[in-house]
Amino acid sequence: MISASCILALGLLSCAALGRDLQGGEKLSGLKRLQRESGGDEEPHSLERSDLSKRSAGLNGQTCTALPGVESALQNNTHTFTFKVRTMGSLSLAWVGDGSGVLLVLTTFQVPLFMMRFGQSNLYRSEDYGKTFKDVTYLINHTFIQTEFGIAISPDHSGKVILTGDVSEMGGFRLFRSQDFGLTFAPSDLPFEPLIQMLYNPGDCNALMTLSITLDLWLSEDFGTTWRKIHDSVCLVRWGPKNSIYFTTNYNGSCNDKGMLELRKTADYGRSFQTIATRVYSFVLGGKFVFASIMTGRGTERMIHVSVDGGEVWNMAQLPKVNHEQFYSILAANQDMIFMHVDDPGDSGFGTIYVSDDRGTVFSKSLERHLYTTTGSDTDFTAITSLRGVYMTSALTEDGAVETVITFDQGARWQTLRRPQNSHCDTETSTNRPNRCRFHIHASYSTTMKMNVPMLPLSQPNAVGLILAHGSVGDAESALSPDVYVSVDGGYSWLLALRGPHHYAILDSGGLLVAVEHTNSPVNQIKFSTDEGQCWHTYNFTNDPIHFSGMDSEPGSRSMNVSLWGYRNDFSKWVVITIDFKKLLDRDCTEGDYVQWLAHSADPSGSNDGCVLGYKETFLRLRRDSVCWNGRDYSVTKKLSPCPCTMDDYHCDFGYYRPENSSECEEQEEMKGSPLEFCLNGTTEQLQTSGYRKIPGDQCEGGFQPERKETDLGRMCTSNALYPNSLTETSSLNAAVIVMVVIALLLTSAVAGVWLVKKYVCGGRFLVHRYSVMREHVEANKIEGVDDIDTHYMETGKAQYNEDSDQDLLE
Ligand SMILES: *[C@@H]1O[C@H](CO)[C@@H](O)[C@H](O)[C@H]1NC(C)=O
Ligand SMILES: *[C@@H]1O[C@H](CO)[C@@H](O)[C@H](O)[C@H]1NC(C)=O
Ligand SMILES: *[C@@H]1O[C@H](CO)[C@@H](O)[C@H](O)[C@H]1NC(C)=O
Ligand SMILES: *[C@@H]1O[C@H](CO)[C@@H](O)[C@H](O)[C@H]1NC(C)=O
Ligand SMILES: *[C@@H]1O[C@H](CO)[C@@H](O)[C@H](O)[C@H]1NC(C)=O
Ligand SMILES: *[C@@H]1O[C@H](CO)[C@@H](O)[C@H](O)[C@H]1NC(C)=O
Ligand SMILES: *[C@@H]1O[C@H](CO)[C@@H](O)[C@H](O)[C@H]1NC(C)=O
Repeated sequence: MISASCILALGLLSCAALGRDLQGGEKLSGLKRLQRESGGDEEPHSLERSDLSKRSAGLNGQTCTALPGVESALQNNTHTFTFKVRTMGSLSLAWVGDGSGVLLVLTTFQVPLFMMRFGQSNLYRSEDYGKTFKDVTYLINHTFIQTEFGIAISPDHSGKVILTGDVSEMGGFRLFRSQDFGLTFAPSDLPFEPLIQMLYNPGDCNALMTLSITLDLWLSEDFGTTWRKIHDSVCLVRWGPKNSIYFTTNYNGSCNDKGMLELRKTADYGRSFQTIATRVYSFVLGGKFVFASIMTGRGTERMIHVSVDGGEVWNMAQLPKVNHEQFYSILAANQDMIFMHVDDPGDSGFGTIYVSDDRGTVFSKSLERHLYTTTGSDTDFTAITSLRGVYMTSALTEDGAVETVITFDQGARWQTLRRPQNSHCDTETSTNRPNRCRFHIHASYSTTMKMNVPMLPLSQPNAVGLILAHGSVGDAESALSPDVYVSVDGGYSWLLALRGPHHYAILDSGGLLVAVEHTNSPVNQIKFSTDEGQCWHTYNFTNDPIHFSGMDSEPGSRSMNVSLWGYRNDFSKWVVITIDFKKLLDRDCTEGDYVQWLAHSADPSGSNDGCVLGYKETFLRLRRDSVCWNGRDYSVTKKLSPCPCTMDDYHCDFGYYRPENSSECEEQEEMKGSPLEFCLNGTTEQLQTSGYRKIPGDQCEGGFQPERKETDLGRMCTSNALYPNSLTETSSLNAAVIVMVVIALLLTSAVAGVWLVKKYVCGGRFLVHRYSVMREHVEANKIEGVDDIDTHYMETGKAQYNEDSDQDLLE
């Protein structure tokens, strides 16, 4: 029944749904989202306010001095806007351009009647970062805009906007296109009924494509004025690099015939096509890689083939084969390498992370017992964008506890998190099971488990070293109400910042942090910190508290304006309160406000201190006690110096692993005495290794240089995605239940931030309230996709999902 294919790769691509069922997933491309339900949340911590109002000692015992005149400075810079529309229905926000201050808000009220829809949309536009809005509904002639398609913003910040209007009473669909940041819109009728959102070509935003509900692929080269059908029977489509389009197709059957699809490509906007693989189950573009899962011909078994030249030459990935219950997942990809999760046999809920070489071909083991449940969306894997080489995720300990682990060198070694200073363990737990007194960071898995975690870990490339995240110390009990922790050194050490769950945001490239408590009662207070989360001050932004829905600021964390969205007690109208913190930081930062900081420094006396992936990075960072404005044009200043090679510059090679706390690679028992032979460009290669393989992208020079070579054995082999081994057995293909899940996390910064605040209305009663935000780095024009979730899993895996949560699965 449900057969969606949403894969994504490198910001280039979006996702497509194969059936109408999961349109919900599709409409989220380009939307930031993270769901929370206020209905079942824990009662908030009551300690918080009194703790903070003292303003003398921080939570970690540091001295905090009050900032004088805060109240009056901010009061003059707090702007409230009340929308005339009722809070029923949904509200989407989209930032247009970068630094333009333009924000579009689309509210849609829709009553789904059987086979029919009645709806109404309103469009609002702000030019001052959300302080005031104009009702510009007349620009779209009061046309009903489908929420599924929302607001499509071009990723190039050129101010292009597309709204897809439903004029079915006049028999069709109409686009409203703007090229001037939403100031004017030009209508044009679509010659088909769209199935998915318009997909911008990231290389040329005048080129758009989309699928029709009849699975035809339509393309426009003039920003949606004229459309041309370029292919039929298309299942899943993606923009690739250099104006190329990749898609799967099935002429004779349905797109549900996984494993029977053809992967095709066009490089000239559909004037000619090339079939690059057959018997394809699904595909992914990521970094320089094209991955396709291709049937091996033995039952439902599939293999991953990889190409680094856009599908001309394919090689088989050296990964364990999986049986029909298991799945593969790409956790992250960049230009050098990928992280691949391979599910363990049985319904264990965990698997192994493998890291690839620079060809995507030979993989080595990186982390065992990696938590990743079979529904395919529950992993804590997080790329920390504020420091190079850092990733966090959760592993399952032998005694079944979930434990946060972190790598500082792109997956070569993982370690548990250091416990924050001054952290107390639950006495009961710590005496009984002292080893359980560990520091845990809450991410997607906790969110999916409906824990009281309103936000995922947050980091920004321009706020060097900074991470904000919910965490807890100790066993399960203390996880019921996680606190907010801050790291300023990319995850090496952590400090308790705020007690209880909060919504948080980074402003002014890390110079200012803001947070609002996550509670069920109305709020009137925002907390802010000018010293990277050590001391927090409060500001009462209103006398009439609002039911808080979410916080929003311009993507990129350079803004000083933050908007708080919500509604007042009567439930009736959306309210947005925008606070401009510029007056607070009224001084521009000067040279003396910055200090040198060596990243990854663990042992200042060692000569290799700070060496990661072959070089050291020294940054200029804002001093903690400087209260000044980095400014919009702030750019990170850093100095690089090369390092000699050590064992730490190497991944363990195929068949080798690193025991805990060790730098040396040891051979895996089961691999002893069986050298790896693999197929590369049609001939068999043999790998001779002493166990070490340089980390892709590592720039170390000299030093430790272990021997490693690949010998061509001169034997032909088949590694051909176009004509895979002749298949005889096809009968069981329809029953293929392998799940391929893909999440690409390391993405471009082409950010078209769109938010969605949504309320579900049923019978006129306000039922659930969800608030959506997606992590910055996955937000461009994509979502983390769940590809090929089979119905089987939907039913058995996550029975507790309520019916409106198909979208949340895609979180
Ligand atoms: C706030 O605005 C009022 C009137 O616009 C002005 O008189 C007052 O000085 C301002 N206060 C501050 C702290 O800027
Ligand atoms: C606006 O809509 C009305 C009715 O739906 C239609 O008659 C009119 O021509 C439209 N105007 C424009 C400018 O599209
Ligand atoms: C589709 O079916 C026709 C005849 O049934 C066959 O000749 C053709 O090869 C099939 N095409 C594909 C792509 O399977
Ligand atoms: C701010 O609001 C809180 C209640 O949320 C109240 O206890 C506190 O006194 C207020 N502070 C000021 C300065 O008005
Ligand atoms: C905050 O908003 C104002 C407009 O109200 C704008 O002039 C200013 O540049 C914004 N500040 C930042 C840092 O974006
Ligand atoms: C690894 O190191 C940590 C801290 O240094 C220690 O607690 C742990 O027991 C070590 N693990 C092993 C297997 O030696
Ligand atoms: C395999 O083919 C690719 C792409 O054509 C080429 O770049 C690479 O050098 C070849 N590798 C070997 C070992 O021949």
